[in-house]
Amino acid sequence: MNLVVVSNRVSRGKPNEPMTGGLAAALLPVVEKSGAIWVGSSGRVRDGNTREPFAEVEALGAGALAMLDLPAAHYGGYYEGFANSALWPALHSRADLIRASQEDYVSYREVNAFMARALLRFRKPDSIFWIQDYHFLALGAEMRDLGVSQPIGFFLHTPWPARAVISGVPNHRELIEAMLAYDLIGFQTEEDCENFLGYVQADLDLVVHDGVISSSSGQTRAAVFPIGIDPDKFAQQATKAMTHPDVSRLRRSLNGEKLAIGVDRLDYSKGLVNRIKAFDRMWTLYPQQKRTTSLLQIATPSRGAIEAYGNLQSEVAKLVTDVNGIHGEVDWTPIRYLNKGFGQAVLAGLYRTAQVGVVTPLQDGMNLVAKEYVAAQNPDNPGVLVLSKFAGAANELDAALLVNPHDIDGMARSIATALSMPLTERRMRWEAMMAKLNTSTIQQWFASFIEALQDTQVAGTVAHEPPTLWPRRATDLAARYH
Ligand code: F6P
Repeated sequence: MNLVVVSNRVSRGKPNEPMTGGLAAALLPVVEKSGAIWVGSSGRVRDGNTREPFAEVEALGAGALAMLDLPAAHYGGYYEGFANSALWPALHSRADLIRASQEDYVSYREVNAFMARALLRFRKPDSIFWIQDYHFLALGAEMRDLGVSQPIGFFLHTPWPARAVISGVPNHRELIEAMLAYDLIGFQTEEDCENFLGYVQADLDLVVHDGVISSSSGQTRAAVFPIGIDPDKFAQQATKAMTHPDVSRLRRSLNGEKLAIGVDRLDYSKGLVNRIKAFDRMWTLYPQQKRTTSLLQIATPSRGAIEAYGNLQSEVAKLVTDVNGIHGEVDWTPIRYLNKGFGQAVLAGLYRTAQVGVVTPLQDGMNLVAKEYVAAQNPDNPGVLVLSKFAGAANELDAALLVNPHDIDGMARSIATALSMPLTERRMRWEAMMAKLNTSTIQQWFASFIEALQDTQVAGTVAHEPPTLWPRRATDLAARYH
């Protein structure tokens, strides 16, 4: 088998590469070990002939990394436009933030078509393709149009919302019909999978039996594969990271204070505003926690060219300043707020230093920071995870202190509970969460998806016949909309 993994963002596996959870960090170890070829964006764009995709290929462990320059004319409409201003808000149930033009949609389809052409270079008779995430909902359909008959799987790292919300995305029907070119579609949670199947049944009027969708062109299986981490590796990294200069400096600066930590991309789905309000409330309700507890909030800048992200950056920065101004003292800063990214070699040590991990998104596919925080703890003296019930991780990590991120007072109380939790309870909760992490690792996630993808073909459930159902190709779309 020749596995080709495709995602927009890739990782080059450099130790200091900034990463906050996420797909790239998760895929890196499995690509390195499996010998797969990982194809994604180089982060650069290129003018000119997009019929001949340019890729720089380098070794990555036992596998390889191919980084493509995406077409300059379509990159903005694809990444900042349709992917992150229409799909991302909808997938995170923020229909109010959906902004998309038909040009953005055309660019999204053009980049999907471009990627399909680029993948032909890596195709072998025994290839199987595994496409990642919302950037490439239509890639499978474009590949089928080019005659690719090998198995193609797709995994969605974000949530899939209710029908009414996804229907707010322009061209939603066309896109979801295009997704049926995949043999297997994986989701993080049962709820995501049910939402998707609900749409397919009600809006596309297709028959679904045991998670298998039958359409006039073939069959597609939808199933749940919760993504994991490598807990042993992360624990080792955390132990080692305790001597890293950044981690040592943090520990020295604490002077016996307790530390809570939040690590997120600066994204409205992460619930940063509510989290900071909850800390404000906590210091008001429990003044004894002043001076004795601070929050280290790492908020890595993200998608800054999009208005909603620029607005969020200003809102969070102002809130942090206000809260520090109200509660701070000449020798104590309640919130240490950093707008930059850290590599995992440092993050693991920061997690281990903090007595409380706060992961309180309003909506999140899985949230691997939650899992990494748990894996990084000292087994003899573990910290406490305060986790939003709206993160996919809450399904497994139910021994965390689960919170509703819309309930500021409730979060404030849970943070205070976490800060004063006795060792026996902390250990009990941590052991229960570690047991879950150990039974659902990234290696198992990878193996079970690939096995299921191979099974879809063995079982003969799939016979995709392009292009009777798939919406027309990107070039035709451009003609239609201009
Ligand atoms: O949540 C899905 C995901 O792909 C994450 O893995 C990643 O953090 C994010 O979305 C993509 O972010 P970016 O736009 O920075 O690549």
